[in-house]
Amino acid sequence: MPINPKPAAEKAEEKNPAEEIFIPTEPKWTLDEIILPEEVHAQILDVATYAENSHRVFELWGFKRTHKFSRRIGINLYGAPGTGKTMAAHAIAKYLGRKILIVNYADIESKFVGETPKNIRKAFEAAKNSDSILFFDEADAILSKRVTNMTQAVDVSVNQTRSVMLMLMNEFQDFIIFATNFISNFDPAFMRRISIHIEFTLPDVECRKKLWRMYTPREVPNNLDFDELAEKFDGLSGSDISNAMLNAAFKAARLKADELDKALVFEAVENILASKRANNS
Ligand SMILES: Nc1ncnc2c1ncn2[C@@H]1O[C@H](COP(=O)(O)OP(=O)(O)OP(=O)(O)O)[C@@H](O)[C@H]1O
Ligand SMILES: [Mg+2]
Repeated sequence: MPINPKPAAEKAEEKNPAEEIFIPTEPKWTLDEIILPEEVHAQILDVATYAENSHRVFELWGFKRTHKFSRRIGINLYGAPGTGKTMAAHAIAKYLGRKILIVNYADIESKFVGETPKNIRKAFEAAKNSDSILFFDEADAILSKRVTNMTQAVDVSVNQTRSVMLMLMNEFQDFIIFATNFISNFDPAFMRRISIHIEFTLPDVECRKKLWRMYTPREVPNNLDFDELAEKFDGLSGSDISNAMLNAAFKAARLKADELDKALVFEAVENILASKRANNS
């Protein structure tokens, strides 16, 4: 389809573009649906209950004097891919009974110098106007410290983006959630403004057991032993386990099998592990 950027952009400008690009959605996950180690679950609960405990901490316990400017709360969910970070951001919003406004770097990046900071501003405005939880997914792209091989114009633009982001984070009196696989890329200035960091690691054997169970529907005839699966395969994320089950189920269906045989699940897992090894080498 041919595109005609200019009139479209003008049209968007008339209609408050913030509301056009950044649309809050209903959170898709609840806390009960995420399988996590007890400590991580507890850390997420601390965040989710922040609002309901805020009166007690700030007013009754006097933190409003000692922590005058700490009512905003930055939360960073970091760690391995496919471990539930995006799910957790949804679950926090859900717990708070609020919509979530998801911002990906692609939504705010612009090839026009100077437009990216404007888009960031729009994202913050849209979250505020709709009273939704602002969530920067794959946030390393925007909070990163190292940018190499830049032309001077881009350099200026990146610095503008950074300083606008810092300023907006300072002003914003609400939750902001970030998620990243690459916390090591975060600029220290941003790190300092994010008060809570929660690490997501690959599931241990107990969590893997629960994940295998969770991703095997009751209806599917099978000979799976979840203890065996959890113990046999290490290094799998929640996402890998979910994918392996579905891949195996489709293969079983194609083979017109009466049940989902564990050999097919083993094979699906081996495929995933092989692709992960290839990706890391
Ligand atoms: N801890 C978990 N509990 C239950 N399901 C999980 C968990 N982690 C991942 N999954 C499954 O994998 C999918 C991807 O998870 P999610 O998008 O939250 O991962 P992520 O940590 O944000 O990954 P990435 O770093 O690649 O963005 C989920 O939709 C879910 O089906
Ligand atoms: Mg994610």
